[in-house]
Amino acid sequence: MITENKELKKLNTLGLKAKARWYAQPADVTSIKSLLSDTRFKGMQILVTGSGSNLLYSKDFNGLLIRPDITSITVTGEDENSVYLRAGAGINWDTFVAYCVDRGWGGVENLSHIPGCVGASPVQNIGAYGSEVADTVVCVEFIDLETYTDHSISKDECRFGYRDSIFKRELKSKTIITYVTFCLSKFPVINANYSDVATELSGVKNPGLYDVRKAIIDIRKRKLPDPEVIGNAGSFFKNPVVPENIAISLQNENPTLKIFPAPSGFSKIPAAWLIEQCGYKGKRFGNVGVHPNQALVLVAYEGATGEELINLANSIKNSVFDKFKIEIEPEVNIV
Ligand code: EPU
Repeated sequence: MITENKELKKLNTLGLKAKARWYAQPADVTSIKSLLSDTRFKGMQILVTGSGSNLLYSKDFNGLLIRPDITSITVTGEDENSVYLRAGAGINWDTFVAYCVDRGWGGVENLSHIPGCVGASPVQNIGAYGSEVADTVVCVEFIDLETYTDHSISKDECRFGYRDSIFKRELKSKTIITYVTFCLSKFPVINANYSDVATELSGVKNPGLYDVRKAIIDIRKRKLPDPEVIGNAGSFFKNPVVPENIAISLQNENPTLKIFPAPSGFSKIPAAWLIEQCGYKGKRFGNVGVHPNQALVLVAYEGATGEELINLANSIKNSVFDKFKIEIEPEVNIV
C-alpha cells in the first residue's frame, strides 16, 4: 500500500515530527521494483529506511520513502563448522540475533538489543562490545536505484570500516538492500573481553551464547534510554579515530580516559568522554538534551524539533573542538 503525506513520528526512534510525501512498505523484490518504475514517482528523491533508529528528520521529506519489509530467513548452506543464513532486509535486527542464539549459532550475540533492521546493519557496519556485523557478513544483495537491477556484493566489496561501508560512500543513496547473507559458527567462541561484558559475566562459569546475550541486554537497558520512553537514536556521534600519539598524550594528561584500538597507528577515543569533559552529560536544553547515563546519546523530549537537536549537536561539536582540538562527526543520518 502506498500512503500519501505519511506522518513519520512513530517511524523514527527520536520521535521527531515530519511527513513523507509518499510512503510504501514493499514486502518483496518484485513489489520494490514495481514501485520504482511507477510513473508517479519518476524523478523523485528516494529515501530507504529501516526502523528509523539512526535518522534525524530536520524537515518533511518531499519524496518517496521506502521501508523494505522482506522478512524471510533461509539456510542457504551448511558445513561441519558453519551455517549460512540469508535474511530479509526488513527483519528486526534483534529478532535475527535471538533466532541465531536460540539455535546455538554464534557470531552476532554481542550485537544483541541493537535497534534497527537487518538491511541497515551493513550500511553503518553496526558494532558493539568487540563485535561488528562485518565479522559475519558473507554478501549483501541490493537493487540499484537507477537501473532497477539486482546485485550481490561480497563482504570484501562492502569495504567495511568502523561505522563505515561502501553504502555510506560510493553507493550512498543508490541502492535498496534486500537481503544479507551471514556465516554463523556452530561452535561459537565467546567474546567477553569488553570490560563491561566481562564484569557483567564475572559470576558466570563458562558463559554461553544466552549468557552473553543476557549480559549485553542488561548492560544496554541500564545505560541506554528506551526509545519507547524517550526519543533517541543511540550514539549520536562516532568515536573519533586519532593518531595514536595524540590519544596517548591525552591519556597521560587524563588518567581516567580509556582508549580503544583502531587500525595501525591510530586509536579510538570515546566521544562520550570528550562530551562529558565539556560538561554536557545529563544537561537539558529546551526539548533536547544529553542522556545522564551515556553522554554519547542525545535525547529528544516531547515536542523536540530536528533543528533543536542539530543546534545542540553543533554546540557539542564546537565545545569538543575548542577544548581538545578533536573533530567529532555525527553517526546519525540527517535528512
Ligand atoms: N564514557 C564516558 N562517559 C559516558 C559514557 C562512556 O566517559 O557517559 C567512556 C568510558 O570511559 C567508557 C567508554 O567511554 O569506558 C566507552 O563507553 P561505552 O562502552 O558505553 O561505549 P561507547 O564508545 O560510548 C560504543 C558504540 C555503542 C556501543 C558501545 C559498546 C559508537 C559510536 N558507539 O559506544 O554503539 O553500544 O560502544 O560497544 O561506536 C550505537 O552505535 O548507537 C551504539 C550504542
